[in-house]
Amino acid sequence: MLSLLALFAGACAVAAAAVAASGDGCRAGCPLALAAYYFSPESNLTFIASLFGIGDYQALLPYNPAITNPDYVVTGDRVYVPFPCSCLALPAAPVSTFLAGAIPYPLSRGGDTYDAVAAKYANLTTAAWLNATNAYPPKRIPGAGTVNVTVNCSCGDERVSRRYGLFLTYPLWDGETLASAAVQYGFSSPAEMELIRSYNPGMEGVSGKGIVFIPVKDPNGSYHPLKSGWQKFRKATLPPSPEETIHLDYASQPEGIKVEKSIEFSYEEIFNATQGFAMEHKIGQGGFGSVYYAELRGEKTAIKKMGMQATQEFLAELKVLTHVHHLNLVRLIGYCVESCLFLVYEFIDNGNLSQHLRGTGYEPLSWPTRVQIALDSARGLEYLHEHVAPVYVHRDIKSANILLDKDFRAKVADFGLAKLTEVGSMSQSLPTRVAGTFGYMPPEYARYGEVSPKVDVYAFGVVLYELLSAKQAIVRSSGSVSDAKGLVLLFEEALNAPDPMEAVDELIDPSLRGDYPIDSALKIASLAKSCTHEEPRMRPTMRYVVVALMALTASSELHDVHSV
Ligand SMILES: Nc1ncnc2c1ncn2[C@@H]1O[C@H](COP(=O)(O)OP(=O)(O)OP(=O)(O)O)[C@@H](O)[C@H]1O
Ligand SMILES: *[C@@H]1O[C@H](CO)[C@@H](O)[C@H](O)[C@H]1NC(C)=O
Ligand SMILES: *[C@@H]1O[C@H](CO)[C@@H](O)[C@H](O)[C@H]1NC(C)=O
Ligand SMILES: *[C@@H]1O[C@H](CO)[C@@H](O)[C@H](O)[C@H]1NC(C)=O
Ligand SMILES: *[C@@H]1O[C@H](CO)[C@@H](O)[C@H](O)[C@H]1NC(C)=O
Ligand SMILES: *[C@@H]1O[C@H](CO)[C@@H](O)[C@H](O)[C@H]1NC(C)=O
Ligand SMILES: *[C@@H]1O[C@H](CO)[C@@H](O)[C@H](O)[C@H]1NC(C)=O
Ligand SMILES: *[C@@H]1O[C@H](CO)[C@@H](O)[C@H](O)[C@H]1NC(C)=O
Ligand SMILES: *[C@@H]1O[C@H](CO)[C@@H](O)[C@H](O)[C@H]1NC(C)=O
Repeated sequence: MLSLLALFAGACAVAAAAVAASGDGCRAGCPLALAAYYFSPESNLTFIASLFGIGDYQALLPYNPAITNPDYVVTGDRVYVPFPCSCLALPAAPVSTFLAGAIPYPLSRGGDTYDAVAAKYANLTTAAWLNATNAYPPKRIPGAGTVNVTVNCSCGDERVSRRYGLFLTYPLWDGETLASAAVQYGFSSPAEMELIRSYNPGMEGVSGKGIVFIPVKDPNGSYHPLKSGWQKFRKATLPPSPEETIHLDYASQPEGIKVEKSIEFSYEEIFNATQGFAMEHKIGQGGFGSVYYAELRGEKTAIKKMGMQATQEFLAELKVLTHVHHLNLVRLIGYCVESCLFLVYEFIDNGNLSQHLRGTGYEPLSWPTRVQIALDSARGLEYLHEHVAPVYVHRDIKSANILLDKDFRAKVADFGLAKLTEVGSMSQSLPTRVAGTFGYMPPEYARYGEVSPKVDVYAFGVVLYELLSAKQAIVRSSGSVSDAKGLVLLFEEALNAPDPMEAVDELIDPSLRGDYPIDSALKIASLAKSCTHEEPRMRPTMRYVVVALMALTASSELHDVHSV
């Protein structure tokens, strides 16, 4: 037991280091998770312990009270192995973080391919996952080196429940399902199953393959509550304030500049400035609440009234957001948490892109303006993806969230909102909701809730198609949902047509009256196509998109508009 505790203490350093490096998926790990190792005739406890870097198999016994005779373990029983659960990043995509134990495996122990190494871990990992999480290419693993065996894990989720903070990584065996695994650990009622499903999105209905996460009790026989358990542990080992664990990249600012504090407004101040939330101050209604116009401390602001309560984590998140500044991002000026939650944004004069493309009573946007809007919003997103640490994924990119100022320069609105609504507790206690808008969501996000910057790249591709065609992300041909066709499909058909130039030409917004260079339009359409690739890995990064769009704005036909 002593050696195990030492192991956990060491793991905290890993978890703490991961806080700064981690992105959207996770911020931090936790010192303990358990792996369910299927006991086969070839295995023994010493061997299993050694696979997890545990020198003495006796260290496993407290976690395995059912094992009364270590020399006789029944085939098919699960042996529970403790390991630290860290927040890690993919070598190929350092911004995509995930929770896993990284267990060093010296190849001198035998097994020089990912297949051979994975085979020893009884489906707790796979060769493909080892390949994805190790820097070595599969064919060239150095003979005497060490690979990291990556075993996925969970630390719980305070949006689901604070009761559970210790989780079992359980590979489903032939014939097993999430429900059948859950039952073994005492979760069987409909409410309990709902809970288990929340921890395992996408795993319902899967049988005999994949990993599920089940809350389990610690050796003392009690569930490890999320807060009083790990939070306390984290507080003792990590810097005390969440703000300090979050590091922002200020490289773009001159050195020595003090980052301004986020502003906290009082309810009275907001009440006064909106004349008691008078109707004439209301400028809109969004999914999360009403929006009011007000002048606060001499600045024009849009105040979003949110139907939710702020938690500590929410406030930490908010403070980070108020420090993210970029010309192409709508700035979050401050907030108010008295009585209700308010977010105070800079006011953007000229409405949103959706309005300008499809609303009545708007001048059509010229071609150069459209390209500039594309570039501006791409820059805003690139900033979120590449220059903010931890990385932000917007998750709700759409033309309605791209606001235009008086010079028609674009600013991305609502960044961080998806994240905020996750860590805040909604008043209508919603289950884990996938934030996003239909027509803009890539398949991996809509189906599995898989979040990475590539989610935004996909949505941005849809916005590019909108800029070209002025059509809605989902085109309804006859008003019925069953006839709905995504812009993505519409353009893909055109780009695959025998004469793509002609087919794309037919989709271009008629209000441009033919006043656009068709070769540029084609280039944007194919850029949008690569952004909306089904496979997230195949989509370009926003950095690449910015470079591609810059090449377009720099080209001759845009000479007169190029204003930078
Ligand atoms: N910073 C801002 N400046 C000017 N107007 C804004 C600003 N933010 C929001 N608005 C206005 O407030 C209205 C609602 O915005 P909001 O972002 O809440 O809605 P939404 O994006 O359509 O919905 P959701 O909350 O689901 O994302 C819009 O009509 C928009 O014009
Ligand atoms: C335990 O298993 C390993 C690997 O299968 C084997 O090499 C070793 O001899 C076994 N030890 C005992 C005591 O059975
Ligand atoms: C992994 O899971 C499959 C499918 O359930 C099973 O057939 C196989 O025996 C398992 N592999 C190992 C090494 O235990
Ligand atoms: C581990 O989780 C990642 C997602 O974070 C997933 O892509 C991968 O397939 C999982 N690995 C295994 C072995 O289940
Ligand atoms: C291994 O991973 C690399 C990228 O990390 C990928 O390109 C390659 O296809 C993978 N190979 C296998 C066999 O999974
Ligand atoms: C294994 O993980 C360690 C620490 O996370 C890292 O430094 C090392 O590069 C990894 N090894 C490989 C082969 O990816
Ligand atoms: C079990 O309980 C004892 C006494 O409350 C405590 O000291 C110990 O840390 C607990 N062990 C675990 C693994 O939680
Ligand atoms: C709000 O308005 C009232 C009445 O005009 C005034 O007394 C009060 O000082 C104002 N409060 C703030 C914070 O501006
Ligand atoms: C965009 O404009 C439309 C049409 O006026 C409006 O319904 C929507 O709420 C606006 N959204 C944003 C974020 O500005």
